[in-house]
Amino acid sequence: MPVITEIEDLRRMHKRRTPKMFYDYAESGSWTEQTFRENSSDFDMIRLRQRIAVDMAGRSTKSQMIGEDVAMPVALAPVGLTGMQCADGEIKAARAAEKFGVPFALSTMSICSIEDVADHTTRPFWFQVYTLKDDEFMQRLFDRARAANCSAIVITVDLQIMGQRHKDLKNGLSAPPKFTIASMANLATKIPWGLEMLRTKRRFFGNIVGHAKGVSDPSSLASWTAEAFDPSLDWERIKQFRKMWGGKVILKGILDAEDARKAVEVGADAIVVSNHGGRQLDGALSSIRILPEVMDAVGDKVEVHLDSGIRSGQDVLKALALGAKGTYIGRAFVNGLGAMGEAGVTKALEIIHKELDVTMALCGERDVTNLGKHNLLVPKEFYGDWA
Ligand SMILES: Cc1cc2nc3c(=O)[nH]c(=O)nc-3n(C[C@H](O)[C@H](O)[C@H](O)COP(=O)(O)O)c2cc1C
Repeated sequence: MPVITEIEDLRRMHKRRTPKMFYDYAESGSWTEQTFRENSSDFDMIRLRQRIAVDMAGRSTKSQMIGEDVAMPVALAPVGLTGMQCADGEIKAARAAEKFGVPFALSTMSICSIEDVADHTTRPFWFQVYTLKDDEFMQRLFDRARAANCSAIVITVDLQIMGQRHKDLKNGLSAPPKFTIASMANLATKIPWGLEMLRTKRRFFGNIVGHAKGVSDPSSLASWTAEAFDPSLDWERIKQFRKMWGGKVILKGILDAEDARKAVEVGADAIVVSNHGGRQLDGALSSIRILPEVMDAVGDKVEVHLDSGIRSGQDVLKALALGAKGTYIGRAFVNGLGAMGEAGVTKALEIIHKELDVTMALCGERDVTNLGKHNLLVPKEFYGDWA
């Protein structure tokens, strides 16, 4: 068993264990991947202010996200196809999140269904929806989420049309995988993954196959996906979804101060500053760079969360110190899942928690809710002079 000390160790194990098409699906950004790369490298521009001779006994990373207690303000982001990184992946990730005391957000494009995840957990989770054309299907998703006791809906607003990831096209990504000579050759080197997959019945999109009109089997799914997303989405439509759901709403994919103000107007309970992990608009600024502008615009009016690029507890601390009330990890937990299943997700959370806690201590902070700009050293060029 290798000694695992950082998320990068889990990423390497994930790569070894999981078929190439699914590993590449996770570890890619759109087009040139500039935004994907900068999401992480921009965190490195921010430095930390060391303080000494401060009592650091009795530290706490406990906080709240949308009024829910969290062991640390780090949720698991909605990630499609999680159940292809590892058999029953969404159930395993949700269980790890529950045991750790952090929120889990289930993607519409998950392999395990809403009901399946609810059956295997006790803590209410959040359900993510895309903005689809079919009202009947959307209403059914909301009803199913309500029946499963979901405590919030995450509406993803940055994917009316899909960004292109070159590797997915080249790999012929699909669930379950298409058997080409190349994918067979690669699968042959991933025996433990394959054996686990053979043992589970969860290999298709559990929220869609058998639920969406005209999708009774996986082969009809591709045409459904191409048709289902609504390119005419506007703020009125978002208001409509909020009404259809009737509970707490998190708007995910805000990357602009003006959009953040609109999100407040439509009554979002929280917004997620996010560029979808660099998978949508390549060339957009990183989430961490946009965060200060969004905080200035709406920080006192709505709870602001952030994702995209977080690979460590230090990244989490930087986002919180710049004003975010909560953060999400996508690839960092998927790396854990692909490496070691549920234990790997737990490991990812433990790593991030330890890094957050030790960094807090060395910055002279005992309480995660007291973090602020006073903990950071931010160079002028971080804020940039974008016209
Ligand atoms: C493989 C993968 C699949 C994703 N699928 C979804 C999805 O179904 N719905 C969604 O709202 N966001 C999705 N996202 C975006 C994540 O929710 C999150 O915004 C992103 O992963 C954060 O960046 P990070 O991976 O650098 O932490 C996906 C991200 C990845 C990496």
